[in-house]
Amino acid sequence: MAKSKAGSDYLQQRLSHKRAMLFFTQPSTRTFLSFVAACEILGLKMGEVRNPSISSEFKGETRDDSVRTFSSYFDLIIMRSEVGGLSERVAWLLSHSERPVPVINAGSGKDQHPTQALLDIYTLQRSFEKTGGIDGKRIVFSGDLKRGRTVRSLAVLLAQYQDVEQCFVAPPCFQIGDDILAILQSAGTKYTLSDDLRSVLPAADAVYMTRIQNEWDESDGESDQTDFTRYRIGTTEIAAMKPESVILHPLPRRDEISPEIDGDPRAVYWRQMRNGMWIRAALIASLFGVEDEIMDDRADG
Ligand code: NCD
Repeated sequence: MAKSKAGSDYLQQRLSHKRAMLFFTQPSTRTFLSFVAACEILGLKMGEVRNPSISSEFKGETRDDSVRTFSSYFDLIIMRSEVGGLSERVAWLLSHSERPVPVINAGSGKDQHPTQALLDIYTLQRSFEKTGGIDGKRIVFSGDLKRGRTVRSLAVLLAQYQDVEQCFVAPPCFQIGDDILAILQSAGTKYTLSDDLRSVLPAADAVYMTRIQNEWDESDGESDQTDFTRYRIGTTEIAAMKPESVILHPLPRRDEISPEIDGDPRAVYWRQMRNGMWIRAALIASLFGVEDEIMDDRADG
């Protein structure tokens, strides 16, 4: 629909009476811009605070009070924060206020990044369209799984699918948290842990690469003491993978994926990034209850 002027104008009319507040107190490029683009697709007007040092937080206002202020002027709050669990707490707080506007978690601390998980699922679904869908697939996660929130969110969402096997590949000190493994266990999801990426590549249907999250280091140079060179994919590694497999990455990347393989059809991370804009537009449409009318009008041409 968005490809034609008529379709794009139609979409921009759907939520032109709504306003979204983007409250991003942690670095972000693609998540921020994809939310901006998603709001623009549906015609929402936007406000933003990205630097709390020039907002009233600088004057000592608590974040809870800041968010309550936003809810007075806006119909939706999209927030990224370095504080784990904050979006959830804010959503709870607002749901008990006189203006219970929806809150979207655009990344919270080291714990969750649910909209990234949605776009990852959408990318996997599209990638496996011709090979029976996500059910029954073997998904490998590699990198800093302890502090990477995207993997934590995606692993939990993938546990909703049938017979998906999850394999977590990381240096032992950066392995996925026990809290996530407990969720997989109670969902009956099969999983394995490994520290050897090369050995699991030949059987993988999807490999989800991530970068070292050294901004969370508790001591200076903590991440540098670990050898991450075995957690990289280049031309040699991709040659060991199945022809119909796919490689994902939430981006930004460092050296865990060589740009040399960007042109390989199995490298889907650029498409994955663009999917983020569409999935976020879809999420906002569904939050405001306009998804059915959009789908119906699309069917009517
Ligand atoms: C991720 C994040 O912020 O957690 N980035 C993103 O939203 N695509 C991954 C990362 O920063 O490594």
